[in-house]
Amino acid sequence: MTREATPCREGDHGKFEITERDGWARLGKFHTSRHVLNTPCLLPVINPNIRTVEPREMWEKYGFEALITNSYIIWKNERLKDEAIADGVHKLLDYPGVVMTDSGTFQNYVYGDVEVGVEEIVAFQRDIGVDIATMLDVFGTPDMSKEEVEQAVQETISRAPASLEAAGQTILNGPIQGGIHSDLRKQSAVGMAEHEFTIHPIGGIVPLMERQRYRELVEIILACREHIPWNRPIHIFGCGHPHLFPICIALGADLFDSAAYALFARDDRMLMPWGTVKLGDLSEFPISTSALSGHTPESVRSMPDDARCELLARHNLEVTASELARCRQAIRDGTIWGLVEERSHTNTALREATEYLYENMPEGLIAATNPLRSGGVRVSQDLPTSPPSVAALGRLLTSFDSDCQRAILISGAPGPWRDRIGGLVQTISRRWPDAALFIETPLGLLPYTLEDVSPWAHFMGAPSIWKELSVEDRAFDLDALIGEVDQVVELSFENNKQTNLELIESAFGEGVDEEISRAELDREMIEDKVCYFLDVDRELAEDILAGCTFVYSKTHRVRNVHASDGQHLFSPRLRDGGLSLTLEGARRLHGSAMPTVVVNDDSIPFTRKGRNVMHGFISDVKGELNPGLPCLLEAKDGTFLGHGVALCTTSEAECFRKGIAIKVRDGVGE
Ligand code: GUN
Repeated sequence: MTREATPCREGDHGKFEITERDGWARLGKFHTSRHVLNTPCLLPVINPNIRTVEPREMWEKYGFEALITNSYIIWKNERLKDEAIADGVHKLLDYPGVVMTDSGTFQNYVYGDVEVGVEEIVAFQRDIGVDIATMLDVFGTPDMSKEEVEQAVQETISRAPASLEAAGQTILNGPIQGGIHSDLRKQSAVGMAEHEFTIHPIGGIVPLMERQRYRELVEIILACREHIPWNRPIHIFGCGHPHLFPICIALGADLFDSAAYALFARDDRMLMPWGTVKLGDLSEFPISTSALSGHTPESVRSMPDDARCELLARHNLEVTASELARCRQAIRDGTIWGLVEERSHTNTALREATEYLYENMPEGLIAATNPLRSGGVRVSQDLPTSPPSVAALGRLLTSFDSDCQRAILISGAPGPWRDRIGGLVQTISRRWPDAALFIETPLGLLPYTLEDVSPWAHFMGAPSIWKELSVEDRAFDLDALIGEVDQVVELSFENNKQTNLELIESAFGEGVDEEISRAELDREMIEDKVCYFLDVDRELAEDILAGCTFVYSKTHRVRNVHASDGQHLFSPRLRDGGLSLTLEGARRLHGSAMPTVVVNDDSIPFTRKGRNVMHGFISDVKGELNPGLPCLLEAKDGTFLGHGVALCTTSEAECFRKGIAIKVRDGVGE
């Protein structure tokens, strides 16, 4: 297949945009004047002296849109150097896609001194026409003293200005060093981010990868991620084993490079999504790739060395490409964390790294995760905490302010809860209207008013998951949700309604017998959703919903919510239990604590017409945008302009210059 490179539009060179995301995991487009690169992706390492697989085939047959080669190797070799200067690096390699070059840092780490200057090597990369160059950073290793590593960090930072100057218009990598010291990784990220680099590789990890020190890799990524500007792609230097892609991508990695496909092939080792397999150990191939088609392990073993090495390298490339495709699809499907958990079972070091990550899940990652998602949640309960999507919903719930003094917990059964205990709930609301009702789920307590919210409404797992929530977890949950309560009563789905009512009666007394209408219960449910999902305070929610009426579906679900004056305000979504706003609903919430994006003057006419808000056209953000949740739009003078759904966080809105920031649902018109 002959494919053409697609150059970016004028003015977009070096810009990065996110097209889909799940938390920190992102599908992106990195714009270069040669080609717009789809990320996450891997850049195969090409040694210009030994080409196991031709670069042209990397592009045409395997679909790799970028590769990395070493400018220092080219610079040192008279013939390659002359050819590269005369015809450019793309011609030298016969490759039409994005060419990134490294600078000789790695050679310095492996072989000792490199005799090229800081500016000289960047200028050389610029002169041979690379698309992405790398400065000469100082490699910090795990066995250096902390002082030595700190020096490497400081020396790298001090080389930044001259390197950027030498690069001119060429995109430059600004590697982050710091060894295994989280404070130095942070120092490096902060120091490098102050300079105008376009991409930040995380360097100095190869010695860790060689010894499968994966927990330290996770610690390193966690230490620097939030200090790297969100609009700059993150490259993990020398990380090319496919089983590491899901966890790195879930933590925000965009680019990988690796020579593993060729190095492993030379050792008769085959990459698999779950680990590495020795050709010598196989009687049958446990996976099929086009490289292996028509072969058996026996027939491959009997091939001449060069042919066997090439065939295994091709297999390794195919596995690498397909694992990346699997990760990208998982981001689209919202299942990247499922893949992280799956891969964690393939290797003990990866398992340790995954457990460490779940125990130290960054708040910022949870806050960047859409808490509402259609489909369910798999409950394996073999990791110390919930996946970020569940934690994200839990985080919203803890923001709930309630002065309730009595709580009722119902334990032990999957939904649909409305069908199973709707009658009981109605009686409870009538007799003990001041009691808050929670369902005890395998992942924590859920207010009954959110019984239809995904992923909580659809747990996938063995029946035993309903019996395993410990008392400690429950107590913590309740405390986090509504603080100290005077009285708690526990009910079970297994009891009949009468038994449950008697249990409440013996704890809370007989109660009253207020007439409470179906509409009143529905109003409470909508009010809770307004408070939880729109970050609106309860007083305002009560005000807006006073006297509201409902339109019901055939299955007796609320379809539309109308204010007391008849105006349509909200529509609950059956798909995920969320709440869609109408323009009038948004208008009535304008001025509240709901996250609000202030657009530039230039964008006002477009926003009014309901066009999406693009990055670069935002002048301010009030409150914390949560990707996937609604937000309001206003002009600088505070005029209400419309509403939409955030696709980014507040920090991302502040730095991105390309892509859609807010998917606008409706504008106020001209
Ligand atoms: N290749 C693998 N690790 C590194 C690193 O830390 N810096 C550079 N420049 N290249 C690398």
